Amino acid sequence: MKKLSPSELLQTQNWRYATKIFDATKKISSEEWKALEESLILSPSSYGLQPWKFLVVNNPEVRQKLMAVSWNQKQVVDCSQFVVFLGKTDIQKSDVEHLVDRTVEIRHVPKESLNVYRDMMVADLVNGPRHAVISAWTSRQVYIALGNFMTSAALLGVDTCPMEGIDPAKYDEILNIKGTGYATLCACAAGYRSQEDKYATLPKVRYPSNELISRV
Ligand SMILES: Cc1cc2nc3c(=O)[nH]c(=O)nc-3n(C[C@H](O)[C@H](O)[C@H](O)COP(=O)(O)O)c2cc1C
Repeated sequence: MKKLSPSELLQTQNWRYATKIFDATKKISSEEWKALEESLILSPSSYGLQPWKFLVVNNPEVRQKLMAVSWNQKQVVDCSQFVVFLGKTDIQKSDVEHLVDRTVEIRHVPKESLNVYRDMMVADLVNGPRHAVISAWTSRQVYIALGNFMTSAALLGVDTCPMEGIDPAKYDEILNIKGTGYATLCACAAGYRSQEDKYATLPKVRYPSNELISRV
């Protein structure tokens, strides 16, 4: 693996910003987009359960409808790719079995060798107290994927705008998500910044390190 230097890392972090105006004429190449979709899939999640789906919205009419329920933020229609992040609304024993089966398929291990792992997941997420707040748990996993996606995009020189300024219930209606066992949590626009976006050059507003990082 090729390592970034610390200064390259910080350069990338400072280059990334929540893009307000995308250049609607610039499109992400299919090779880069394929890698970004793969980075969504490669996102880590608790137990590896991947309680999410990523809906890439290409249809311009659908994007217009989504913009109307996204505080009219133009990023929805001007970006190259628009991804809606969905979280599972429940975790059941069958979801745990699905992961166990996939692990057997990929790692070629006997299914029985995963019994302890399976029982642990079921005891925690299906039968344990966490089940009462399972959508909060899945949301946390989905936001990890969002963060991973934004950083991956920045490493490729692709701009993003994470978006919670949306009406998730209306998204679910427009995208026919109701009844699927998933629900919209947030979205992310990806593409290339417009030269007119003055936010690109604003200094970052962050608290100083001594306010945020402590050591013991
Ligand atoms: C989960 C999440 C939701 C956000 N929703 C929006 C949004 O709807 N519209 C927008 O323009 N920016 C949105 N932002 C961008 C933040 O305002 C921005 O990340 C923050 O002010 C820091 O600025 P920077 O990302 O440019 O460094 C969102 C950020 C996050 C992490």
